[in-house]
Amino acid sequence: MANDAAVFPRNFQKELPVAVRGEGSWIFAADGRKYLDAAGQAAVVSIGHGVAEIGRAMAEQSSRLAFAHTTQFQSEPAEKLAARLLALAPPNFWKGGRVYFTSGGSEATETAIKLARQYHLEKGQVERYRVLSRRQSYHGSTLGAMTVSGNVARRAPYAPMLAEWGHIAPCFCFHCPFEKTFPECGLACAEDLDSFLSRSDALSAAAFVFEPVVGATLGAAVPPAGYVARIAEICRKHGILLIADEVMTGMGRTGKPFAVQHWGVEPDIILTGKGIASGYAPLGAVLVAPRVVEAFENGSGTFKHGFTYQAHPVAAAAGNAVLDYIEAQHLFERVGAAALDLCKALEPLLGHWHVGDIRGLGLLVGIEFVRDKATRAAFEPSEGIAERIRAAAMHEGVLTYPTQGCVDGVRGDHILLAPPFIITAEESALIAKALASALAKVSPE
Ligand SMILES: Cc1ncc(COP(=O)(O)O)c(C=O)c1O
Repeated sequence: MANDAAVFPRNFQKELPVAVRGEGSWIFAADGRKYLDAAGQAAVVSIGHGVAEIGRAMAEQSSRLAFAHTTQFQSEPAEKLAARLLALAPPNFWKGGRVYFTSGGSEATETAIKLARQYHLEKGQVERYRVLSRRQSYHGSTLGAMTVSGNVARRAPYAPMLAEWGHIAPCFCFHCPFEKTFPECGLACAEDLDSFLSRSDALSAAAFVFEPVVGATLGAAVPPAGYVARIAEICRKHGILLIADEVMTGMGRTGKPFAVQHWGVEPDIILTGKGIASGYAPLGAVLVAPRVVEAFENGSGTFKHGFTYQAHPVAAAAGNAVLDYIEAQHLFERVGAAALDLCKALEPLLGHWHVGDIRGLGLLVGIEFVRDKATRAAFEPSEGIAERIRAAAMHEGVLTYPTQGCVDGVRGDHILLAPPFIITAEESALIAKALASALAKVSPE
């Protein structure tokens, strides 16, 4: 396959199996092998693979009307999905909120960056344009989204092309950037936003974007109590918008529709993607709170932005069908119980010499591998531990999402687990067994 392949791959050095069919938490390959999808691909698949009614709903919409450009028409599936998302969001979105649909997470981030800028223009604050963010974060792969991302490895090749708007400290208790401990730290990582804004030119800041639980970059790092609320308070104090990037954590992944709901925080903008259509269609969404909407409505009346495929009727039909399925099967409610099963199955791994931490919220779980448990020292990046664990687990038939750099952008190895919400206790046990076997093979004890 590799030599006569025509698709530009992510990695020319890797030969990948050909996926031909999915069912529940499993993916079947052309060579007859089957894989347990413990990472939901990349925290995408929430309802499971192969749910026939989603395909039927998409086919039905596609045969009735596949496409109508948003400069000329509204569409029923997009209107319906927008109303449903707003109803799932925190209360400040309920009356007068709006949803901007995209074809994925990066486009959602781009949209939010431009919304924040134009919001301030509409309010007459022409000097505000910088979207602040955190080191050790990921908000997407397009240039605007990369500008706000703090993922060192993903940014590195494009550094000369990226603006520097300001990155504050990550919130990561396992490797605290201030070498402090909660709660004595006084939430130094949140206070870093306040001091950054006091130090730098606060009047040119437009917004702050953050992942409520840091997914790929830090391996499901959950903030301590009070962090998200304090961040929201600092944003209000400095007159900047709060953007919650819930592309990974949204649509039930952490056990609530949106992760910010664990802390009762009401952002101005919420980004979502991935699980919104569970991989059945490329879809993302930007939920916009009324105070931002009103600035446009009462101002110029036009958002100077747009994508040909925004609010695509077939993608929106997929989103509605996925949400129907989630509601009918009570899948948001299932996440908590499934997460308990998964964590119980994984717990014995903590006894392994090189498993430093198992963390997460709901079905977004990270496992960090350390060279030395006492000091939490990382392996040498050249040892490629996370990737070797992934390969060994895949050999055992279990798919995971590996990343390096959680400690400082270069050092640190973890894998992310984000299985479909339908994962069973037996399947969780299979995940743990495959990881134990992968660790035994890879671990340089
Ligand atoms: C938090 C977060 N934001 C944005 C993105 C970008 O989404 P996409 O890959 O759909 O463009 C991702 C993707 O992993 C993500 O995890």
